[in-house]
Amino acid sequence: MKATVIANKDYTIAKIDDRVYGAFLEHLGRAVYEGIYEPDHPTADKDGMRGDVIELVKKLNVPVVRYPGGNFVSAYDWEDGIGPREDRPVRLDLAWHTSESNQVGVHEFADWCATVGTEMMLAVNLGSRGVDEARNFLEYVNHPGGSYWSDLRIANGRKEPWNVKMWCLGNEMDGSWQVGHKDAVEYGKLAANTARAMRMFDSKLELIVCGSSNADMPSYPDWERIVLEHTYDHVDYISLHMYFANRDDNTPNFLGLAEKLDTYIETVAATIKQVKAKRKSKRDVYISFDEWNVWYHSNKKDREILDGNGGWPHAPGLLEDIYNFEDVLMVGLILNTFIRRSDVVKIACIAQLVNVIAPIMTEKGGPAWAQTIYFPYYFASVFGRGTALQLQVNSPGYETPHAKVSPFVDVAGVRNDDGTLSFFLVNRHTTDSIETELELQGFAGGTVIDHQVMTHPDLKAVNTAKDQEQVAPRKGEGATIADGKVSVTLPPYSYQMLRVR
Ligand code: AHR
Repeated sequence: MKATVIANKDYTIAKIDDRVYGAFLEHLGRAVYEGIYEPDHPTADKDGMRGDVIELVKKLNVPVVRYPGGNFVSAYDWEDGIGPREDRPVRLDLAWHTSESNQVGVHEFADWCATVGTEMMLAVNLGSRGVDEARNFLEYVNHPGGSYWSDLRIANGRKEPWNVKMWCLGNEMDGSWQVGHKDAVEYGKLAANTARAMRMFDSKLELIVCGSSNADMPSYPDWERIVLEHTYDHVDYISLHMYFANRDDNTPNFLGLAEKLDTYIETVAATIKQVKAKRKSKRDVYISFDEWNVWYHSNKKDREILDGNGGWPHAPGLLEDIYNFEDVLMVGLILNTFIRRSDVVKIACIAQLVNVIAPIMTEKGGPAWAQTIYFPYYFASVFGRGTALQLQVNSPGYETPHAKVSPFVDVAGVRNDDGTLSFFLVNRHTTDSIETELELQGFAGGTVIDHQVMTHPDLKAVNTAKDQEQVAPRKGEGATIADGKVSVTLPPYSYQMLRVR
């Protein structure tokens, strides 16, 4: 089987916003406690943050981390997480039926972000609270001093404001599971009023309004239209979320979900344009895809934890998906989609970063390690920055319930700022290798400078604390380049990164 790909230096999609390689960290399960924060851990720093996790996060070069939720934020009082630790209240978290000790709050999170070299993206609570909480939190975080909230921050040990630019106006407000769930009109009005108040403080903030929780919501895509009709002039992004599951153990259909993702983005991009036209607006609103990942492996265990606890445990092991090799392919496909849609998707956050549906896992008192999906995320985040190429792809394909054709070869190409070309390729064929020819038109490229391959005989192979490298990339062999054409064999069910200079 053969496929061809043409990359021409004059055909590009957009400059990729680095923030499409962002992540998400919620007060949920062991994401914060035993994830990033474990004061008794042998690698903990002076702030109680795990050094081994910091190292794994740093390697990913994560540009932005969304915090503190998620469903958690919709009944969260941010004031509980400031001031002396011993005075902070323990609260019940309704979203996940757990207790929240508040030992980590905005100060600790901000310090951790500075240590790992990432930017904060904060969410305000528009579930149980509203405009007042949002304006106070904003003043606390971003005002230099001389006001009640900013002086309280200074008294709590942080002199300089953090100047957080990105603010989410609530979370998944279309979902009946959300504390303070609203219909599109109610939410649209509240979000517009909150955004107006926040902009009175600082007109340059980047505000993100909630879109649909997923493309199967009964209110989708009217939700987007109605919410944007209320908020279009006041926000910069609409957020989308999507989780990917292989519950019937049907790998071709699972991997075909990439086309469902693509259609979801295309539809919301069209809705944005519709509202823009209706409002005769000159402004653009973009997509913040601020929750995405594979999520289903842990569902059964979570039901047992939640049904069986009979109480409100602190940091139980919720949503601890153990990812397999098949998920590497899915995550590669998702990231390729974001690169190809970089004209409209400007922010995206893998959900989440540590322990909870995450590329990084930890054991209490023990090791931290990279799950299988760490690697495609790493390759895209580190090497997928620059300008997205408009590739001409010719590949045989197959049909799924999500689309008439899913090409077996899925590829995204990036011209990095130093002129290197980076290609990310997934072969979705069950049994066949695909001989792929990549024609480079108008580029100087003459040498393959890096070639990484992920394959595995067992789609269900996983990494564990004891066997951390069961699924890991290895150096590729056999990619050749002649007359501006790169030839490479893509084994069945494989992920590859090829870099040419
Ligand atoms: O990431 C886990 C949860 O998924 C988030 O709390 C919520 O926003 C979504 O439903």
